[in-house]
Amino acid sequence: MWNGIQAAPEDAILGLTEAFKKDPRFAKVNLGVGIYKNDDEQTPILESVRIAEKRIFEHQNTKSYMPIAGEAAYGEEVQKMIFGALCSRSATIHTPGGTGALRVASDVLAKFGHKTIWVSNPTWANHNNIFEASGMTVKTYPYYNASTKDLDAEGFFAALEKIPSGDCVLLHACCHNPSGVDLSAGQWKQVAQIARKNGWIALVDFAYQGLGDGLVEDRIGVETLLAGGTDFFIASSFSKNFGLYRERTGALTAVSSTPENAAVAMSHLMAAARVLYSNPPAHGGMIVTTILKDAELSNLWKSELNAMRDRIAQARAALAEGLTQRGVPMDCSFMTRQKGMFSFSGLSKDQVSFLRQEKAIYIVGSGRINVAGLTHGNMGYICDAVAEAMNR
Ligand code: LMR
Repeated sequence: MWNGIQAAPEDAILGLTEAFKKDPRFAKVNLGVGIYKNDDEQTPILESVRIAEKRIFEHQNTKSYMPIAGEAAYGEEVQKMIFGALCSRSATIHTPGGTGALRVASDVLAKFGHKTIWVSNPTWANHNNIFEASGMTVKTYPYYNASTKDLDAEGFFAALEKIPSGDCVLLHACCHNPSGVDLSAGQWKQVAQIARKNGWIALVDFAYQGLGDGLVEDRIGVETLLAGGTDFFIASSFSKNFGLYRERTGALTAVSSTPENAAVAMSHLMAAARVLYSNPPAHGGMIVTTILKDAELSNLWKSELNAMRDRIAQARAALAEGLTQRGVPMDCSFMTRQKGMFSFSGLSKDQVSFLRQEKAIYIVGSGRINVAGLTHGNMGYICDAVAEAMNR
């Protein structure tokens, strides 16, 4: 079967980790995949997660199948987290990670004839693959202005105005991946107004709640779309904010106009999930539910999340300062304005490849640096190398 078949290309993000692992050099750094590291370069299990897991192991009494939509309690906790309260006109299912949520959404959208999705330029490297796998056509709208290192507001809103009714628009709720450039509250209002006027359907990728400005602050876009009264979807991931990467813990929420429509939406989300993976893996969802339903554990988790966010902010400031001190030919202050785990550094493809070949520093081809992987230990080496790449 495989004679004459070309190998599939390496994954733009996870493929880097595989290449990194094979690299024999001692002083190597993986700043590709978006994974939080503490100052010891470890991705620790959060204390709140450890406590929740102990409780689960003590009380769990079956490994029978999960419901297709996951446990109702999980869906309720997800809604409280993303909306601030339960929302009767929405339906939430537990999915394998944010990727699973996006794929269920795209299958459902395509099934009902919503076959064109608009994504930001640039966007997460896997978005295109997911939507294309559902048979959707992916188009791009302008988002990032490389010279101002900010939102291309004019291009963005002009494009949104032209997107026809029935098309879908992928938006990043916060911590835009890869640019770190987020919409302001006022800009979200404009987005919600245009969605309502033009009749396109938003699909909000909410993979970094709590890692931008805070759990509540980061949901401004979702709250604004909810108030706008249109039908839309939210794909949540708990990989980063709960550190549950390998547990594949996410959720898909469909917001509709009435509780009756939400029930119809739920039936179609479940039908799509049944085909894709039957029912979700239990463990990560149980951890999230256990934490969010317990006030004390929930407070512990919030303090751990805040600590991650603070460390990333410090790493951003140190990177900007380190590069400035080394005389790189650019104003680095934008790095401290970007939100989330990534800095869209402005490094060219050649510079990215120089860092990999000569310095064993792995970053995504777009120039995206995982700031959450910078530590006191590797900061000097990285600043030296990036400055050398930029000054060459
Ligand atoms: C990333 O963008 O690095 C993360 O979302 C991990 C992934 O699956 O690509």
